[in-house]
Amino acid sequence: MLVKEQNDLLTQTGPGTQMGQFFRAYWIPALLASELAEPDGPPVRVQLLSEKLVAFRDTQGRLGLIEEFCAHRRVSLWFGRNEENGLRCPYHGWKYDVTGQCVDIPSEPAGSTHCQRIRMANYPLIERGGILWTYMGPPDRQPPLPEWEFAMVPDASRFITKRWQECNWLQALEGGIDSSHVSFLHRGDLETDPIFKGSKGNRYNMGDLMPVFDVVESPGGLYIGARRNAEDGKYYWRITQWVMPSFTMIPPRGDHPVHGHFFIPMDDENSWAWSFDYHADRALTDEQVQAMREGKGIHTLVDPKTFRPLANKDNDYLVDRAAQKAGRTYGGIAGFAMQDASIQESMGPIVDRSRENLVGTDKGIVMARRRLLRAAKALAEQGTVPPGVEVTHQHVRSASVVLPPDQPFATAVGDALAAKSGAAHVSV
Ligand code: FES
Ligand SMILES: [Fe+2]
Repeated sequence: MLVKEQNDLLTQTGPGTQMGQFFRAYWIPALLASELAEPDGPPVRVQLLSEKLVAFRDTQGRLGLIEEFCAHRRVSLWFGRNEENGLRCPYHGWKYDVTGQCVDIPSEPAGSTHCQRIRMANYPLIERGGILWTYMGPPDRQPPLPEWEFAMVPDASRFITKRWQECNWLQALEGGIDSSHVSFLHRGDLETDPIFKGSKGNRYNMGDLMPVFDVVESPGGLYIGARRNAEDGKYYWRITQWVMPSFTMIPPRGDHPVHGHFFIPMDDENSWAWSFDYHADRALTDEQVQAMREGKGIHTLVDPKTFRPLANKDNDYLVDRAAQKAGRTYGGIAGFAMQDASIQESMGPIVDRSRENLVGTDKGIVMARRRLLRAAKALAEQGTVPPGVEVTHQHVRSASVVLPPDQPFATAVGDALAAKSGAAHVSV
């Protein structure tokens, strides 16, 4: 459990907060590249870390991410005209370039220099791996560009979606590193979902409901090992990666693509849940891509404008009590993504962690909270660059392995937890 002050500190990420400063030390995903595909296309609203912003691609293809509201009288520039290398406010025609600099005030007399003095808040926006990334911290501390393996493989090897999740980012992250819920919440889908079924690991998952956790600090966060019984006295280990601030990789299953998430605060009560799948050594098949487009695996169908899932709290996530009773789903909700989102949203927008009763299988969550508190404090008080900013911390993989009983997982897995260009994941 956490006392209220700790819970507030971890869950508040607006400007001026300690966790807000922490998130602003990283490149974070802002938009799918497909949302700003065309020069002079429609601008897109985006809310990140409690800041309302608007993104656009100008005539020359340059990307801009600037404050949403016009410096004149605060109209939303989402209504703006994206034309001739700038975004023009529809109210009185003030125009801004991709850096947020005002470049034209058409109502001012010729020779007026007023617009030169107007500059909107703005952040860099770069494209990598199908995602537009931004860095919202101090310009003089901008880190190197992100190098997560899924973002560095060829486009044909990767599939990415995002969805709006209606709760605080930490609730979502804690689901991403909670390897014990798979045997319960997701048990109905392990052997039916096309992106999960058929792996030997599923049998171990279903056969042992009491995983033993061994959690080890990694350079960027944690290796979260969950141990289940395999045959002949051996152990099946599922090793989840968490790299700060909120990057997770779920251990792979058989030959299926590897997947994971980023959880980015929109504000303190809403998050962007990013979901990615990739193969490090080959392209995804057409069947895999088609299944993910249809909301299989860790993806789900969303409204194409708002990215709100079609199954959401207003329709009780399309709960199917008959499927629950028959054992086809454990909680009555279809699909991994909405199984996670529904139960995490059900805790309320910001769960009261002073009222929890944690057990041994929550060890990864306990250690992640401690490390977050420590890293955020060190950044705030000493300016210490937090773990996960260094690109070498991002060169990681999850793994699933069967090991002899007398070996600690972190050494026995060898280099299976490191990204290796072109080499397949280690998976059972
Ligand atoms: S409010 Fe934007 S130009 Fe007047
Ligand atoms: Fe889950």
